[in-house]
Amino acid sequence: MSLWRKKSINKLLADAGNTEHGLKKTLSAWSLIALGIGAIIGAGIFVQTARAAAECAGSGVLLSFVFAAIGCLFAGLCYAEFASMIPIAGSAYTYAYTTMGELVAWIIGWALVLEYAIGAATVAIAWSEYLNKLFGGVIPYAFCHSPFESPSALGEHGIINLPALFILLLLSLLLIRGTQESARVNAVIVCIKVTIVLAFIFVGWQFIKPENHTPFLIPAGQPPIAGHDYSLPFNHGWLGVLHGAGIVFFAFIGFDAVSTAAQETKNPKRDMPIGILGSLAICTVLYILFSWVITGVAPYTDFLKHGKEASVSYAVSTYMTGYNWLASAVTIAILAGFSSVILVMLLGQSRVFYSMATDGLLPKVFSDLHPKFRTPYKSNIILFLFVGLFAGFIPESVAGDLTSIGTLLAFTLVCLGIIIMRRNDPERPRPFRTPWVPFIPIMGICVCLAMIIGLDTRTILTAISWMILGLVVFFSYSRHHSNIAKENIDKNVR
Ligand code: ALA
Repeated sequence: MSLWRKKSINKLLADAGNTEHGLKKTLSAWSLIALGIGAIIGAGIFVQTARAAAECAGSGVLLSFVFAAIGCLFAGLCYAEFASMIPIAGSAYTYAYTTMGELVAWIIGWALVLEYAIGAATVAIAWSEYLNKLFGGVIPYAFCHSPFESPSALGEHGIINLPALFILLLLSLLLIRGTQESARVNAVIVCIKVTIVLAFIFVGWQFIKPENHTPFLIPAGQPPIAGHDYSLPFNHGWLGVLHGAGIVFFAFIGFDAVSTAAQETKNPKRDMPIGILGSLAICTVLYILFSWVITGVAPYTDFLKHGKEASVSYAVSTYMTGYNWLASAVTIAILAGFSSVILVMLLGQSRVFYSMATDGLLPKVFSDLHPKFRTPYKSNIILFLFVGLFAGFIPESVAGDLTSIGTLLAFTLVCLGIIIMRRNDPERPRPFRTPWVPFIPIMGICVCLAMIIGLDTRTILTAISWMILGLVVFFSYSRHHSNIAKENIDKNVR
């Protein structure tokens, strides 16, 4: 029984044609860009920017964004080739199944759980933080924080994050009911998010204090603040910027979700690259400007103690006198924006699980459709319980970094997949070709691996444990239940 058995692209396209022929090709390049921005702008920019600045990058977090964007560009070009060549739901998992075989596909699918499921948990935790801020902090600390979160300034301990569970339940029910998320609704949310980010940039620009940007990188001799040790190699200087890139990478996650819409795109050859790379470009520009303003308005050390999670509201209400309305507007817009990110993440996760269950690698329960709504409702319920467990009990920083590492692993393997596919199947028509292969994919692999190394050891060890658990599931269940394994047994019996 080979671990490297592959799914043929022709069979894949034929299977998808049988089951998903109802999908209409309605999406244009603009709606793909809107979809991308809808999934990209969320907790990353509003939460992780301040955290990365405070912990390791200082004002140099701007450079962390540039570094992360370059890694995403390389991976995005590889995604664009796959998405236009194999326009099928399942994204990186499906690409791997056709190029590197079942084991690697499983590894990517398992890593994508970190991206989508844990990503949804992370954004749900941020949602909870902003909701509490909007209500003036009336939710008791114990009921909006994980028990593993560090205690508040008043020494209160967390028990469970109830608002995070609430939003996850609400959106899971919406997904079960059927996500008739029209491009228009998504576009409205995107307009609100982008307007708020632009408003913060324009208003905040007047409040920038040049001394907050000096020195630009955290100096090696920076004394500890609130117990945070800056002398560690990855907590200052250029290595701090690299560490910051691993943290803010989270803000870019979501552009790959565009690739899952390849089947519904009018002209994937032209529009997929525009959708993937266009949403990336717009968000990169916004992120760079945003990080310049927020580290200019507030000293980065502030974010170690205050406003780490609700950093924008904190910066506005503390340093931008006269703009309290902006703090409230930001909070409301962020809550709406986070909701769309969570929704797309939960949707993406259920699609990946759906593909894995259809291939026999996961139990059929994940591909069972609701008789009336035609949604994978059992999968959505299980996912709610799983994601809820993380959102309710895990601190935000751990969940955020795990999301990044899972995505970085998937990106790395997608880049590798392009090189293998060019060698194994050079004649297959490629509507979009990644330029400079193998240079671009190799650079994508290097940058993504560098960002993985830049993450902290605890995150890397947790991710390794997660992947080992995945291998146990694969060897004890999936390998024997996969459709390809069954087909081979049938052939031998005959
Ligand atoms: N990029 C998404 C966010 O920042 C996951 O919330």
